[in-house]
Amino acid sequence: MNNLELFHEFIQRYKILYGNVIYKFDEDIDNAVQYNDTNLNASIGKYETSIRNCQECKLSNTRLNFVFGMGDPNADLLLVGEAPSKEDDIKGTPFAGKIGNLLDNILSAIGRNRFKGVYITNILKCRPPKNRDPLISEVNKCEPYLKNQLKFIKPKLIIALGRIAGKILLQQDIPLEDMRKKTFNYLDTPVRVTYHPASLLINKNLKQLAWDDFQWIRDYVDGNKN
Ligand code: URA
Repeated sequence: MNNLELFHEFIQRYKILYGNVIYKFDEDIDNAVQYNDTNLNASIGKYETSIRNCQECKLSNTRLNFVFGMGDPNADLLLVGEAPSKEDDIKGTPFAGKIGNLLDNILSAIGRNRFKGVYITNILKCRPPKNRDPLISEVNKCEPYLKNQLKFIKPKLIIALGRIAGKILLQQDIPLEDMRKKTFNYLDTPVRVTYHPASLLINKNLKQLAWDDFQWIRDYVDGNKN
């Protein structure tokens, strides 16, 4: 068989298996992601449905809800926290409760909210017991989901909330102070790291520093900074 005949046979088999929909298979992704640029909202919703019964790690035994994330699927700003809290696990949404209220206030101060220009998710989609740090094995199983969300949303900027999320996205175990005010990269998307809202509730002195970060973030996503 020549190359053209091989390609023809591949297409015939592909159509039998998958019909007329084009799927893109990534090495690190178990799930086939349907790319449909004309209906991005439906696609990310479909993607959520396809993974929400995930049993890839033991957190699936203790979770109440798989917390996929929420927000504007066309957001230019993607916020990534560490993992759902107890309250988030109960409600099924990220950053619910007091920590989430503070985050909402910060977003409102930069002219945005959870449904406008922002998408919020976490490194882990399920709550670790007693809010312990994510295990490497859990991150390895869960991070492909984040990578796929990134492909759907295509934000202009990713914000890692807190040192743990920063460490995982940057693959660098350094103090948060050394992560701030620098632009890193995650799958070709710029990343900045700022304080986790929970730490602002504990140490009020950090609020001004976080506000400095969010003013930079506002200017960057609004196009006033490169
Ligand atoms: N809630 C989240 O969704 N993520 C965090 O990192 C903390 C609380």
